[in-house]
Amino acid sequence: MKEDQQQQPQPPLHHHRRRVAAFTHKNFTKPTAYLILLLLSYAFGYLSSPSSTSHHHHHQHPSPLPPTIPQSTLSDTTVFAADKDHYRFTTQCADPVPSKLVRQTILDRVFNGTSPYDNFPPAHASTLLRRKRIKGWGSYGAVFENLIRKVKPKTIIEVGTFLGASAIHMAELASGLGLKTQIVCIDDFRGWPGFRDRFRDIKMVNGDVLLLYQFMQNVVQSNATESVLYVPFATGSGLEKLCQWGVFGDLIEVDAGHDFHSAWSDINRAYKLLRPGGVIFGHDYLTSADNKGVRRAVNMFARVKGLRVQLDGQHWVIDSA
Ligand SMILES: C[S@@+](CC[C@H](N)C(=O)[O-])C[C@H]1O[C@@H](n2cnc3c(N)ncnc32)[C@H](O)[C@@H]1O
Repeated sequence: MKEDQQQQPQPPLHHHRRRVAAFTHKNFTKPTAYLILLLLSYAFGYLSSPSSTSHHHHHQHPSPLPPTIPQSTLSDTTVFAADKDHYRFTTQCADPVPSKLVRQTILDRVFNGTSPYDNFPPAHASTLLRRKRIKGWGSYGAVFENLIRKVKPKTIIEVGTFLGASAIHMAELASGLGLKTQIVCIDDFRGWPGFRDRFRDIKMVNGDVLLLYQFMQNVVQSNATESVLYVPFATGSGLEKLCQWGVFGDLIEVDAGHDFHSAWSDINRAYKLLRPGGVIFGHDYLTSADNKGVRRAVNMFARVKGLRVQLDGQHWVIDSA
């Protein structure tokens, strides 16, 4: 078999392009060729668009597409300014309820007006709980005492509580300073996927990791049931509800998800709940998780709001005063 009769491999795509180019060059003047190419690509784009195949959409007027801006020409600031959705964190909050009504507001809104600590623990759980099982991270850092002494908070909101180490520590600090402080903890009490690898002694029942009950048990054993109350929901919806109910904090600690997007959302939502002159702070400014996600979120927040970030150990602090 002659070489040229053998089946030749398909030429790569750019060979086709070269042929098309050669063809257009020979047979058309440049403007004509461009016009034809333009018409072809328009027709091809139209035919392949979803609305062209869907009768349902035929009556609709297609909205013009925004021009594509090459990313390289945009600075970060331009992108931020253009895309305000990242900065929109809902609603006006309700007028603040007086500090002395914060506890009752949570009891009414979340627990039908009763205390969740009444008759705790229930019989089915009592043998499953440890008498007191507390573990936290940086939960006893100097920042807690520094800020409680400085702010003398009537209400503290904690975003991310786990077994209650930092919440109970703050309750003890406040009562040691003679303050009557209500601490409102927001946590879904699910931990995070895989947390039980390090907490095997915390029982799991039908997939429920009993974090909420062990936290409550810790609060009961620490005699802190009057000062520590909780909102057992996701931080997004929990903070949103506090805003709607008018529950504000003089001091707010953010220590839930440590990836950028969780931290960004939590900080923005929590800041709305800060009383004028209050302080918001959080752990793990120095962690490398999510490419320093907490630090990126805190810094961006401070930049956008024109606030200053201070460090106290591993905690970041933003003082709104
Ligand atoms: C680092 S631990 C909090 C530790 C606590 N502040 C201390 O020092 O003892 C983080 C907690 O945030 C909670 N958490 C994380 N993401 C959450 C979310 N989106 N909604 C509710 N809770 C969340 C987890 O369940 C976990 O208990």
